[in-house]
Amino acid sequence: MKRTFSLIAAAFAALMLLPGCGSSPKSGAPAASGSSFDEIVASRRSVRDYQAGTTITEAEVRALIATTQEAPTWANSQTTRYYVAMSEDKVAAIKEHIGAGNARNTANAPVMIVSTFVKGQAGFGRGEQVNEVGDGWGAYDNGLSNAYLILKAREQGFDTLIMGMRESDALRQILGIPQTEQVMAVISLGKRASDPRRPDRKPIDEIVKFF
Ligand SMILES: Cc1cc2nc3c(=O)[nH]c(=O)nc-3n(C[C@H](O)[C@H](O)[C@H](O)COP(=O)(O)O)c2cc1C
Repeated sequence: MKRTFSLIAAAFAALMLLPGCGSSPKSGAPAASGSSFDEIVASRRSVRDYQAGTTITEAEVRALIATTQEAPTWANSQTTRYYVAMSEDKVAAIKEHIGAGNARNTANAPVMIVSTFVKGQAGFGRGEQVNEVGDGWGAYDNGLSNAYLILKAREQGFDTLIMGMRESDALRQILGIPQTEQVMAVISLGKRASDPRRPDRKPIDEIVKFF
């Protein structure tokens, strides 16, 4: 487990060194509002360099969260929860618990969102695990929900970074997250200061088999 974590940490560290994954010259990507789905998907990137001084309103974040509510969930269980830090002190407190690299890369992001899911519901029936995946279905639903969030954010002209490198116990304390919920990703929200490079994708035939 520790070895897996170290490998992931090393991979992220290497990623930070790639051109476009840290700071790079700003070319000022426009807001994507009114764009087609494909354009939104293509322009969404993990952004690790945010403009200073961006203001995001609660109404704008509510619109993102409302969009996530349209995502499918196990038996409509809707187990994902969001904790949205907008005040300077809460945002700063969260950034202290996402690792030095993530903190540096999200330095100017004005909003930090912590996603969780309620354990023991998605993938469960009458309190019993329905199949071998168990609470993995809660994580599955949470990822789907977050996918809606980051794409809607892009459509609104915002940018995001999903972060799995975070200290869940500290986040629980800061935000009052109960033990009945599993802390998942932290998502930064802001506006890009530079255009990130698109990391290469595998050849499609490596990830699909048709029968
Ligand atoms: C579950 C998950 C966890 C991630 N954790 C981090 C992280 O802690 N730090 C980081 O810089 N990027 C993180 N990423 C972003 C990925 O590195 C990124 O999505 C991938 O390199 C592809 O780049 P793209 O999002 O720009 O297409 C994470 C992504 C996911 C989906």
